[in-house]
Amino acid sequence: MSYLNYFDQIVKVHESIKQYIHKTPLDYSSTFSNIAGAKVYLKMENLQKTGSFKVRGAFSKLISLSQAERERGVIAVSAGNHAQGVAYAASVLGIKSTVVMPETAPISKYLATKNYGANVILHGKFLHESMKKAEEIIRETNAVLVHPYDDLNVILGQGTLGLELLEAEPDVVVVPIGGGGLISGISIALKAKRNNLKVIGVQSSASPSMKVSVELGRLVEIEPSFSIADGILVKNPSKITYEVISELVDDIVLVDDEDIANAILYLLERNKTIAEGAGAASVAAIISGKIKVGNGKKVIPIISGGNIDMSLLARIIDRMLFKSKRVVKVKVLVPDKPGYLNRVLSRVAQIRGNVIDVIHDRMSTDVKPGFTKIHVVFEIPVSESLSEFLYSLALDGIEATLVE
Ligand SMILES: Cc1ncc(COP(=O)(O)O)c(C=O)c1O
Repeated sequence: MSYLNYFDQIVKVHESIKQYIHKTPLDYSSTFSNIAGAKVYLKMENLQKTGSFKVRGAFSKLISLSQAERERGVIAVSAGNHAQGVAYAASVLGIKSTVVMPETAPISKYLATKNYGANVILHGKFLHESMKKAEEIIRETNAVLVHPYDDLNVILGQGTLGLELLEAEPDVVVVPIGGGGLISGISIALKAKRNNLKVIGVQSSASPSMKVSVELGRLVEIEPSFSIADGILVKNPSKITYEVISELVDDIVLVDDEDIANAILYLLERNKTIAEGAGAASVAAIISGKIKVGNGKKVIPIISGGNIDMSLLARIIDRMLFKSKRVVKVKVLVPDKPGYLNRVLSRVAQIRGNVIDVIHDRMSTDVKPGFTKIHVVFEIPVSESLSEFLYSLALDGIEATLVE
């Protein structure tokens, strides 16, 4: 049987959950359209309740429970968006919820989940250890497990996002894949009505378990390595999502952290949009050229979540500004005499540079006696003026090099 037959059930789920969720905006982006040579519209699911699409699946699952099951309470294992989605949906529906998170979960996610009303238990270093604890709690309390993707009701809930896209008549829809629940639901909703449309999945190269499974034609587990896209790091895809994806998804591409960080920065700067790593993966695939669309086609990348730690965001911004030479670090060797630091800084001011940091170093072994080394970190409005700066110091007989 084709999974497309579940379309009508997605419509029913949508009817029952739409009062609890936002219909998120679809935003045309001229920046990304120019880069891709296509008409790019962002589906802003980062603006969904709790900051990600996960509430859709959570409401769908919780609404499907019988009264007796609701009274037993629900339990989820997650360090991220699923935890918040389940906690929120459960509190809206008046169901008791427990969330088991690894002890390493970011404090912001822990607090958000607790604030949505869940009983949060920190256990183990990794999710599989948290899962063991959840199994113990289930044996004691008989709570109902809400799996993040290995559950048809959850998948149908995520499919409601696909229904919202149908009206826009896209040619290509780009969806991040972790366990595959989101793309499974979206593909059923879209392909049931428009079979010439393409659905393309995006995984992190640090966690390609679904891509490799589909290519090998059997489910495989791959231990993820580190990535800033923590929401899509999944070791074991499920049988059901593997089957839906094998039937309905046209292609899966991989992006790396460099592509993702770039996309996060572009989204922030050009679209005033905060996306987390997993949420920016779809845009990363388009602007890095991993997905070739072009020809004026209508393309919709899903910005699936916006729950990024502010400290990680700050690090990404700093790194990308440095990489694109909008913030530079210059090493200058000058005689250790009054007035030289001033000369260097006035050259920075001449190119309208804004000083962020100055380190004055006489001690390093690479500094000749009677000289001092100055590291100046500064922002420059246009990166081309950097050569003007280095040239002006050279004219003063001052040796300066860019630190890369
Ligand atoms: C922001 C975000 N995007 C995408 C995904 C991937 O969803 P799925 O596991 O259903 O493929 C997740 C999963 O947690 C997520 O948090």
